[in-house]
Amino acid sequence: MKSIAILGSTGSIGVSTLDVVRQHPDRFSVAGMAAGNNIGLLVEQIREFRPRVVSVRDESSVEALRDALGKECPELLHGTEGACAVAAAEETELVISAIVGAAGLVPTVTAIRAGKHIGLANKETMVVAGRLVSDLARQHGVEIIPVDSEHSAIYQSLAGHRHEDVLRVILTASGGPFLNTPAEEIRKVLPEQALKHPKWNMGAKITIDSATLMNKGLEVIEAHWLFDMPADRIGVVVHPQSIIHSMVEYIDGCVMAQLGVPDMRAPIAYAMAWPERCPSGIDRLDLAKSGTLTFQEPDTERFPSLRLAYEALKAARTYPAVLNAANEIAVAAFLDGRIGFTGIPELVDRTMQAHVAWEPVELDEYIQADQWARKTAGKLIA
Ligand SMILES: NC(=O)c1ccc[n+]([C@@H]2O[C@H](COP(=O)([O-])OP(=O)(O)OC[C@H]3O[C@@H](n4cnc5c(N)ncnc54)[C@H](OP(=O)(O)O)[C@@H]3O)[C@@H](O)[C@H]2O)c1
Repeated sequence: MKSIAILGSTGSIGVSTLDVVRQHPDRFSVAGMAAGNNIGLLVEQIREFRPRVVSVRDESSVEALRDALGKECPELLHGTEGACAVAAAEETELVISAIVGAAGLVPTVTAIRAGKHIGLANKETMVVAGRLVSDLARQHGVEIIPVDSEHSAIYQSLAGHRHEDVLRVILTASGGPFLNTPAEEIRKVLPEQALKHPKWNMGAKITIDSATLMNKGLEVIEAHWLFDMPADRIGVVVHPQSIIHSMVEYIDGCVMAQLGVPDMRAPIAYAMAWPERCPSGIDRLDLAKSGTLTFQEPDTERFPSLRLAYEALKAARTYPAVLNAANEIAVAAFLDGRIGFTGIPELVDRTMQAHVAWEPVELDEYIQADQWARKTAGKLIA
């Protein structure tokens, strides 16, 4: 029995993870969960999966949980410390890191320091502090198994091959809802339009990131750290059908790809069962019924976020942390109607321009860059 902890259990990835657990009661148990504010769903999850320890973002939610659960109540914690305690709980073998945004960084680092293998959905952790996280994973003998479908595809396509034989990795991108929208209309996009993703049903922040292509940019930085690839050997190709989840090109011209219907339960189940495999509950791929698969270059004129992410990766130091934090502030401001859609990359760009970078070493130094960018982006909006 593999004992897992789910950070972000009430989110899109958390719910899909629990669906895989539900299919394999003899294989997985849930030792801990951490969530934010969705107490109603969390109560249902606790009743069904019986974790020993649960953490919520705000102290005020603890009483509500205790009242709702009565005698069935697990150990209840709150805040970042609570999420860290869930991540490091002794009985846990694997932590599914699926809190959204940089809020996932400290609990994920805590899990690695406690020697837990990580199923990594929270790409922002790698974007903000990729070097620190990779170094810690190596030191603690921890495997980071990607949950992002693209990185899971690359991880699987790399298996059994030598790093020196890889020419480049190629991330596929659906292109989001505005793939064919002219520039002048992109300017007028409203939150409700941007929240409708054509292929994936995801949390609000990543859905907006997919619409701006910042999600692909964050994935480029994530791929850099996960697969030890320089920026110029990480390609992006738009593939709107989302059947090929990503590829690896080798020096002999052979390209390995991983295919499947777009359903996050596949990469989640892969990370959970690793190094084995288990059924995930997704529909089987029928290529004859999939229609035509198409590919095109991403347009960084209409979607400058992807270019900004490459620039941040190349500039290194604290730039990726600043890119990520400014983007989080910009997405929240767009969803609140305080800035327009094209204001998102504009704000990220202006925040990066204002930054004087340093070489972060300790976790605090990465967090300092994140905090600086949040404050600066907030001032720029004001
Ligand atoms: N969804 C996908 O298909 C997908 C695919 C690839 C990668 N990812 C990555 O996976 C991560 C999660 O994405 P998602 O779509 O699942 O997001 P989501 O649906 O918005 O869920 C986010 C989860 O994080 C929790 N949370 C937020 N802030 C928290 C905090 N400070 N402390 C504890 N919990 C907190 C939320 O709790 P409440 O809801 O209870 O407030 C929720 O459980 C993101 O990094 C995303 O980029 C997602």
